[in-house]
Amino acid sequence: MEQQRGSFTGKLGFVLAAAGSAVGLGNLWRFPYLAAKYGGGIFLLVYLILAVSFGFALMITEIALGRKTRLSAIGAYEALNRKFRFLGYLSCVVPFIITPYYCVIGGWVLKYLTVFVTNQVSEAAADDFFTNFITQPGAPVVFFLIYVLLGVVVVRFGVEKGIEKASRIMMPILIVMTVFIAIFSMMQPGAMEGVKYYLMPDFSRFNATTVLAAMGQLFYSMSLAMGIMITYGSYMKKEANLEQSVRQIELFDTGIAFMAGLMIIPAVFAFSGGSEEALGKGPSLMFITLPKVFDSMKFGTVVGAVFFLLVLFAALTSSISLTETLVSIVSDKFGWTRKKSCAVILIFLVAVGIPVSLGFGVWSFIAPFGMSLLDFFDFISNSVLMPIVAFLTCVFVGYVVKAKAIIEEVEINGAFKFKKFYTVMIKYIAPVCLVAILIFAIMEAMGVITV
Ligand code: PHE
Repeated sequence: MEQQRGSFTGKLGFVLAAAGSAVGLGNLWRFPYLAAKYGGGIFLLVYLILAVSFGFALMITEIALGRKTRLSAIGAYEALNRKFRFLGYLSCVVPFIITPYYCVIGGWVLKYLTVFVTNQVSEAAADDFFTNFITQPGAPVVFFLIYVLLGVVVVRFGVEKGIEKASRIMMPILIVMTVFIAIFSMMQPGAMEGVKYYLMPDFSRFNATTVLAAMGQLFYSMSLAMGIMITYGSYMKKEANLEQSVRQIELFDTGIAFMAGLMIIPAVFAFSGGSEEALGKGPSLMFITLPKVFDSMKFGTVVGAVFFLLVLFAALTSSISLTETLVSIVSDKFGWTRKKSCAVILIFLVAVGIPVSLGFGVWSFIAPFGMSLLDFFDFISNSVLMPIVAFLTCVFVGYVVKAKAIIEEVEINGAFKFKKFYTVMIKYIAPVCLVAILIFAIMEAMGVITV
């Protein structure tokens, strides 16, 4: 029997819901550290180019696939072509890899919130505060567990509606705060060097790693190549303008990432000098740099506390959408009740998240390819699986269901302005680039080439 599917109310409802999933730690935590590490301006430029070309095409595709079939990933691919059923499954693997470590970082954010609320700003601004914290065996695991529990409880008892309402207030505040903090950051002595580093592309730093990192970030930040946007699309009304919605989501997502970079990178120059070492801090960058900014600010404790509260919120809205996806995958697949599915996912998240958390301390000997477990999971999902899923999706749409089918879906409400561009992108440019990137990623991981 055809199931009646709920849909988002109004145009804005869809855009805000999709943006709530898209805007999260990817923008605030992941983007700035990658930009700092991969050459600043050149990374930003590559990211922007990819976002308007590649990201645009892929997001249109996924949302249209969902809206056309009214099904989520597994069903959507299968409904259009039985042979591509596996692609639905493959895209479902990605959130299983991302969610556990996402929650570990969520736990770090929670910790920083408590640090600021209890007025320990100057401690947090010390150089080794963060490292001391994540290498402990107890505290990070406890914060991770609280964070996971919070998310699963929301998914279990379905208070998403409340969360959605709250995020409509919190998100605009978050934007205002990032602007405010970015301005403060840029006013610090020495920060202008950082602004330059972030905004002026240095073409000599351009290489395949930059492109790979930017592309992985694009998937991650826009919640692409993991079936999530297909599900969101399946709830979208036929009357809503698809192309315009995609542009709005992209603008929102990229805008916040850009501001996050402007908030963090100049501060790295002001407080730690722009050395390779300071810029290459990786996942810890936000947690090391921002406390220094807040420490030097009047009322920094309050500003910091509010800021981390907002980050926590943005992270929660994203991880709830991730957890929700996992729960619906297992309950659809095995026919379990929501309660049982939530319990199983909770156990899964805890079982995988604890080793990830301990991977920075007592279990640091587990280091596949010389990476921390967190970096390893991040690499497998963003640099390997997502390009594979994206490549197969392009092949599927370009050559099996044909770009025309997607264009028709988009044109249900108004002309598709970039349809020629879209077709060329999905049939030729995107698949070729993806294969190149993928080969490169694997060679790099195997140590065949080093950059
Ligand atoms: N896009 C989210 C972020 O930037 C992460 C995410 C991925 C959330 C997939 C939901 C689904 O943080």
